[in-house]
Amino acid sequence: MNILVVGGGGREHAIATTLSKSPLTTRLIVAPGNPGIEEFAECYPIATDDIPGQCKLARDIKADFVFIGPEIPLVRGLKDELLKLGISAFGPSKKAAQLEGSKIFSRNFCKRHNIPQPVFKYCTDIETAKKQIELLDGYCVVKADGLAAGKGVIVCNTIDQAIIASRDMLEKNKFGDAGKSILIEERINGIEASVFAVSDGNDAVLIGTAQDHKRAYDNDEGPNTGGMGAISPAPALDQNLNKEIFNNIIKPTINGMKLEGHPYEGILYAGVMITDKGPKVIEFNCRFGDPETQVVLPRLNTDLVSIVQKTIEKNLNGFTIDFIPQNAITVVIASKGYPGEFKRGVLLPSLKNFKNKNKISVFHSGTSKDKNGNIVSDGGRVLSITSVGTNVHDCRQKAYGIVEAINWKQGFYRKDIGKL
Ligand code: AMP
Ligand code: GLY
Repeated sequence: MNILVVGGGGREHAIATTLSKSPLTTRLIVAPGNPGIEEFAECYPIATDDIPGQCKLARDIKADFVFIGPEIPLVRGLKDELLKLGISAFGPSKKAAQLEGSKIFSRNFCKRHNIPQPVFKYCTDIETAKKQIELLDGYCVVKADGLAAGKGVIVCNTIDQAIIASRDMLEKNKFGDAGKSILIEERINGIEASVFAVSDGNDAVLIGTAQDHKRAYDNDEGPNTGGMGAISPAPALDQNLNKEIFNNIIKPTINGMKLEGHPYEGILYAGVMITDKGPKVIEFNCRFGDPETQVVLPRLNTDLVSIVQKTIEKNLNGFTIDFIPQNAITVVIASKGYPGEFKRGVLLPSLKNFKNKNKISVFHSGTSKDKNGNIVSDGGRVLSITSVGTNVHDCRQKAYGIVEAINWKQGFYRKDIGKL
């Protein structure tokens, strides 16, 4: 099969690696890809949000299907455009991707379908926001409605803090259009987990769970990031909780989207909080997580191309997905300064000696090549180092062994990923 993967981060590096191992893959193309992916797949420099460019490439290479990695092309309707050309795609349609594209859509949707979630209030003016903030005594979460690269969520302790966050979004335009309408949510407590399901619009199957480490520094301190590391399976979940999340969150979401005329096809990522009243939805995403994919896919014991095929054929009914009985962790090496300002184009140490052996993978999250062909940093998150092992302790030792050996002085990483 000819396969096009859209994206160029650590998630797509892990997706492409997994697809490349399938006996069903004949040609693997990634756009834009990155220097890590380039070592085993063809890369074309087409931006992830260049919808016409990605469509043209898919047509030129006669793609049997397109695996869309990031949320932006999904929310902007890449799947719909590909379908118009008769090209199959793995990922939800523009309408279905609203589950991630609009937090307000997602909250109202959960309300309509009795899916457990925190209490929320939709606001477009500061007076309404203030009333709700006072009602919650400032213990709340202020969220921009639209996509804000994981930064449009402010977890607050006090009334003042929440009013400032609301003003920044509604009046100071801090997140542009994404923050013109906001949500004030009840702040719920518990352990968080990321749950991934694959759906063909009718049926869904769990494809893995993970715990993300979102804060920048050890002990969950510092600002929120896209994720500084992850561990799979999620330590907070067991068979019973997985079942409860599947029955009370995943299944009603798939049924609800179908009922509303926007069947959900592709990966559904539920970010959940395990509260004392059971699991509740923190957010939905319409794609695999980054860096969660770097730990979910290495545990997969079912062919990923077959999973995509079954999904596209709407044939997931009765399909099972197996996992290897091992743990995986990934540690992200980020540019100093991230998630604030950071430098790009900083030379990385040679990665030649750390290549994907002994159940270690070095995934490129934000890298590119300079004019001399050297690999340099090109993002906040630069590398993610995954290891698979018989227990979390073993995984930590192996992954951190490589992180320390890479020894990139201009980067930083959390030392407590997977520390239980
Ligand atoms: P999100 O981008 O929606 O995943 O939010 C980022 C982080 O904010 C989540 O991982 C949670 O830690 C936290 N968060 C979001 N919504 C809530 C909520 N209603 N209550 C408590 N924490 C939340
Ligand atoms: N790691 C969080 C995300 O992919 O949204």
